[in-house]
Amino acid sequence: MDYLLTEEQRMLRDMVSKFAKEKIAPVASENERNHRFPWEIIREAGELGLMGIAYPQEYGGAGMDFVSYFLAIEEISRWCASTGVIISAHSSLVCDPIYRFGTEEQKRKYLPELLSGKKIGSFSLTEAQAGSDAGNTKTTATKVGNKWILNGSKLFATNGAEADVFVLIASTDPGKKTKGVSAFIVEKDMPGYRIGKLERKLGIRASSTAEIILENVEVPEENMLGELNQGFKVAMVTLDGGRLGIAAQALGIARACIEDSVKYAKERVQFDQPIANFQAIQWMLADMWMEYNAAWLLTWRASVMKDKGLPYSAEASLAKLKASEVAMDAARKAIQIHGGYGYTEDFNVERYYRDAKITEIYEGTSEIQRLVIARHLLK
Ligand code: CAA
Repeated sequence: MDYLLTEEQRMLRDMVSKFAKEKIAPVASENERNHRFPWEIIREAGELGLMGIAYPQEYGGAGMDFVSYFLAIEEISRWCASTGVIISAHSSLVCDPIYRFGTEEQKRKYLPELLSGKKIGSFSLTEAQAGSDAGNTKTTATKVGNKWILNGSKLFATNGAEADVFVLIASTDPGKKTKGVSAFIVEKDMPGYRIGKLERKLGIRASSTAEIILENVEVPEENMLGELNQGFKVAMVTLDGGRLGIAAQALGIARACIEDSVKYAKERVQFDQPIANFQAIQWMLADMWMEYNAAWLLTWRASVMKDKGLPYSAEASLAKLKASEVAMDAARKAIQIHGGYGYTEDFNVERYYRDAKITEIYEGTSEIQRLVIARHLLK
């Protein structure tokens, strides 16, 4: 599908593909086994401009478009889905809302270090009782003088334990749910802020997923992001872009499943011939490739719409829903093609299988994506 891409987009993709193969692939399995956050890769990604691909150069970004960003997340996730989500959560869920909703002062203060990867970001929306029902935030922000005092706790924050800067949603008018929450920029050094439980996860184990605890955290009033009580919209607009990052991550996982399966099917001999000769295997490969292409095109379309400034919320959900289900199905088939070996840690497909599952859950479950799509159809 190269003909759909510009010369600049292809060059960026090829550069990221080389970086991912040379630097990320060799350490991906080991980092995941040790639950080790790949700091050295993130630093290097920052030097290459990959922590701020789709943001203007005046704030320290690479000045490219969103299509380039999705291509980069796919290439990185092809080798390591953990690294893919670290960069995607940082870029889509933190840099994007600061760039989109921030004041000029906020952009100048936070973006240069975030976009260069000197600092990384985390998005704190989810709480124990506010998962799919994201408006049910119980963390409170109370105005005292020229500060907001934050109390509560947040769950499942990607990059949570490693991040310096958080975009965090808190209730500023309790009881009003989606109409009474606001977004804040919180820094990890603000007194009263601390990391709680670190999650042990089925997959993406080299990424950090943490609970955030806020006890009388004093946030300067100038750190409110967007307008008072408009935080739910900040979160929803942010998640529209984030869902495309996850679609790209899922595409990377699906491609890993396909490429590894093709290689294995050509090498593995049973009944005196490579198993690639058998139609049972060929049909699985053909279906995986067809579905990957469909998901890629949906992700590309929504990314182009985002670049053109068109409304793309339902298209982002279509892309995320399709790509995550394609990744999960490709991972299931990849293990089937690898047979008993695929069930062991000697091959990467068991990691892909575990990593694929989260793409059907975070940044809105498949059920929430269907809800967004159906509401769009019915309105
Ligand atoms: N863009 C702009 N505005 C939007 C919007 C969007 N995409 N979606 C909703 N809104 C607006 C609505 O228009 C509405 O505005 P008004 O009040 O002015 O009418 C307001 O927001 C409330 O919308 P709804 O009535 O639709 O709200 P709801 O309570 O029914 O919730 C939902 C809608 C789609 C279910 C939403 O709660 C949702 O997306 N839930 C899933 C949350 C989610 O994705 N969580 C992921 C956590 S982040 C994560 O995983 C982090 C990580 O680190 C990887």
